[in-house]
Amino acid sequence: MVVSFLSFLIMSVSTRSGFLRQTPLSAFLFLILCICLTGFSALAQSSPSSGFHPGKPWPDQEGVHINAHGGGILYHSNTYYWFGEHKSERSSAALVGITCYASTDLVHWKNEGVVLSVSDDPQSDIVRGCVMERPKVVYNPSTGKFVLYFHLELKGQGYSAARVGIAVSDRVTGPYTYLRSLRPNANHWPLNMTEAQRTSAIVPGDFSRWWTDEWRQAVSDGLFVRRDHAGGQMSRDMTLYVDDDGKAYHIYASEENLTLHLAELTDDYLGYTGKWIRIDPGGHNEAPAIFKKEGKYFMITSGCTGWDPNAARLLSAPSIWGPWTRHPNPCTGPDADLTFRSQSTFILPVADRKDAFIFMADRWNPRKPIDATYVWLPIQFHQGLPILEWMDQWDLSFLVLRDF
Ligand code: GAL
Repeated sequence: MVVSFLSFLIMSVSTRSGFLRQTPLSAFLFLILCICLTGFSALAQSSPSSGFHPGKPWPDQEGVHINAHGGGILYHSNTYYWFGEHKSERSSAALVGITCYASTDLVHWKNEGVVLSVSDDPQSDIVRGCVMERPKVVYNPSTGKFVLYFHLELKGQGYSAARVGIAVSDRVTGPYTYLRSLRPNANHWPLNMTEAQRTSAIVPGDFSRWWTDEWRQAVSDGLFVRRDHAGGQMSRDMTLYVDDDGKAYHIYASEENLTLHLAELTDDYLGYTGKWIRIDPGGHNEAPAIFKKEGKYFMITSGCTGWDPNAARLLSAPSIWGPWTRHPNPCTGPDADLTFRSQSTFILPVADRKDAFIFMADRWNPRKPIDATYVWLPIQFHQGLPILEWMDQWDLSFLVLRDF
């Protein structure tokens, strides 16, 4: 705008003063100047599309709003792959499957299509109309396989199945082969449950009402872990994390969404070792997203209010095995108590930039799920703890220029 105005001003002054008619060389230089200014102006006008616009529609390379909700990102062979839930106009159920988009700059995304399709077989766990949420993909260098985990709810059973689905592929963009679903860690006790808690005779049926102080204490002492010990632990909102030593972990909302579990995966990432812990027992966390900075682990989660946003939570630990400590809400400023009207899904370490992390969240739209938008914000640090601040618009230079 300013640049265009300047061009206009120069042109009128020059024309009126007869400057152009007097010297051909000046006229030529003037023309070059105008072309440069126009080019610069066009660049300045197009720059918004080069950054992130939290909460706004995000067109892919074909101009269609990205359909990859509750997603996560795998950086592989110099490319970011964003996996997410395909959402439809009217339904949040899985009518299509898990989608994938590819990008080298995190802003411009190419639709790679559906990498794990729902099935038409009514006997399949992933029959059309089931729930497939929060997919995450990791790469296993020793097997050369890409491994996809997602939250699975069986068709027609609401959210009661609480299972994890596992699929695998030789190619990052799939197609992925569905392997199985399960409830993790059947017959394995968590490392951080005492002998007294494991052997307690208190059962859920002892409580006629939930949410009393006694009930809360019993939950914290492993009421639901004992109930699900033989059949496997409930597994809903989830993420995957691969540590620097190549060990992978599945982190999921369990125990009726009252406690997060962190479970170590086998070396091929296709199953569980049986080593696991409970995190923030009875703390009612879901939507876990994790990252590591300078050897310290941080997790951002949400409370449990369905599609409605609530205040984010922050936990940290010196080791992945804990102890995990709760901190105040990492969000600051307007709408901080609603996580800027969004819910965490993943924290992305930006490739080749030390300590540069992007908080990824979903602004759900249950009335028209396909229109849900994405809230990506840079993670800033204050006194050693992550903080999140709303930005209408930002780009990756923000993470380079800031020295945390
Ligand atoms: C949220 C959860 C979403 C989805 C939704 C269904 O709490 O984070 O992934 O499961 O509930 O109501």
